[in-house]
Amino acid sequence: MYSDLAEKDVIQVRTKFMKGNTIIDTSKLPKHIAIIMDGNGRWAKQKGKLRVFGHKNGVKAVRDTIEGAAEIGIKVVTLYAFSTENWNRPKHEVDVLMNLLVSSLKKELKLLQDNNIKLQAIGNLEKLPKKAQKELNEVITITKNNTHLILNLAISYSAKEEIVNAFKNISKKIVNNELSIKEIDENIINNHLYTRNLPNVDLVIRTSGEKRISNFLLWQIAYAEFYFTDLFWPDFRKKHLKEAIIDYQQRERRFGKTSDQLQNNE
Ligand code: FPP
Repeated sequence: MYSDLAEKDVIQVRTKFMKGNTIIDTSKLPKHIAIIMDGNGRWAKQKGKLRVFGHKNGVKAVRDTIEGAAEIGIKVVTLYAFSTENWNRPKHEVDVLMNLLVSSLKKELKLLQDNNIKLQAIGNLEKLPKKAQKELNEVITITKNNTHLILNLAISYSAKEEIVNAFKNISKKIVNNELSIKEIDENIINNHLYTRNLPNVDLVIRTSGEKRISNFLLWQIAYAEFYFTDLFWPDFRKKHLKEAIIDYQQRERRFGKTSDQLQNNE
């Protein structure tokens, strides 16, 4: 990645990602980071404000984190922006979240373009208000040829619904003789998920001290590492993303093998 940089520049770039004596190893970056942005409501409550104040400040955390991910060289970030269960929140809160989505997409288009970021969205997007769908589609189209980072927004998303849809679409192909049962394997299932063009998740980050997965990317996290922080989402910044990546890099990912096998490159 830094092959065209002088050694002194490499040292400078590396220094930027230092935490204590530890630096991010740019040769071992997680390809796909998925973030459960939790704690907006509690953050606001602590300050004696309404929940929606937390969501508004959550947008600042989104901006800084995405900028940080682009600087570090992460290829895909999926943000859990709105679950199918979130439709059950009070109407006013849902309306504010939908309006925030539209206004943020408009405001952050420059950030996306300046950082060569491609926007994608997964979920039951037809349930979104027409205005939000239109804004989302516009930004997706404008950024579709960007290549540095994919920002994948999970909106009106449910992992179980995603898997049910995959089953339905695979079954249709079997009924139409386009696919046989024998052919069904992990790749076929991957190819029928919303995330079909994305690598599996390497690292899941959840803020606010909660340790749940909440119906998020259930198939794609099969071998992900988990990082939990007590910070509420509106306080999360790029330096916290770097801490999470450094923590991830200190883990041994064995994928079912033994430590010895890994050390012997078996
Ligand atoms: C969880 O906190 C957060 C959400 C349900 C919404 C996340 C949305 C944003 C950060 C703003 C808009 C996003 C984008 C991508 C522009 P919570 O409300 O569940 O907090 P609580 O658990 O403290 O109640």
